[in-house]
Amino acid sequence: MQECILYDKKFILSISYSEIEKRVREISKELEMAYQYETPVFVVVLNGAFMFASDLIKNYGFNCEVHFIKYSSYEGIQSTGQVNSVIGLTAEIKGKSIIIIEDIVDTGITIQKIYEDLNKQDPKEIKIASMFFKPKAYRGSIKIDYIGMSIPNDFIVGYGLDYDGLGRNYKDVFKLG
Ligand code: IMP
Ligand code: MG
Repeated sequence: MQECILYDKKFILSISYSEIEKRVREISKELEMAYQYETPVFVVVLNGAFMFASDLIKNYGFNCEVHFIKYSSYEGIQSTGQVNSVIGLTAEIKGKSIIIIEDIVDTGITIQKIYEDLNKQDPKEIKIASMFFKPKAYRGSIKIDYIGMSIPNDFIVGYGLDYDGLGRNYKDVFKLG
């Protein structure tokens, strides 16, 4: 598929799933090297990270826990700047190694809030894995430890990412065209 139309907008193919898949496997291997001797806790940020998390975690071949949280900040194609917890973490993470799994880090406002909220629960450490990263938009100070791909400041959909609820199902990534 070369393009998709969501509501009033046309999106064109930007990153193919074969590129994504290859990169995700590499990150799984890096995580295995880092965490195979303990039981890491993957904290998946819904909804956007569901596809990345699925690929990443099924390629992770050692013991781990998987939990889900949900925050909201985006409306349409713009961040509102206001980040709210919609579904919180129910698991006990004190003293554990946490890996937050995100779809994309844009301005960094969302990941900063998630990081601070989880840090209050006194984990051993928190690392961040994000499939996509927009370095030119990033305003944060925390390190994004595992980055799938750095991309320009385009608005993208597919591989879990949406435009007003649509487009998450596509395994390739499309950009506003
Ligand atoms: P941030 O707080 O500006 O870093 O925005 C992060 C959140 O906004 C991500 O978790 C996504 O849900 C959403 N987001 C940011 N950029 C895009 C995009 O290009 N397409 C779809 N969603 C995006
Ligand atoms: Mg997200």
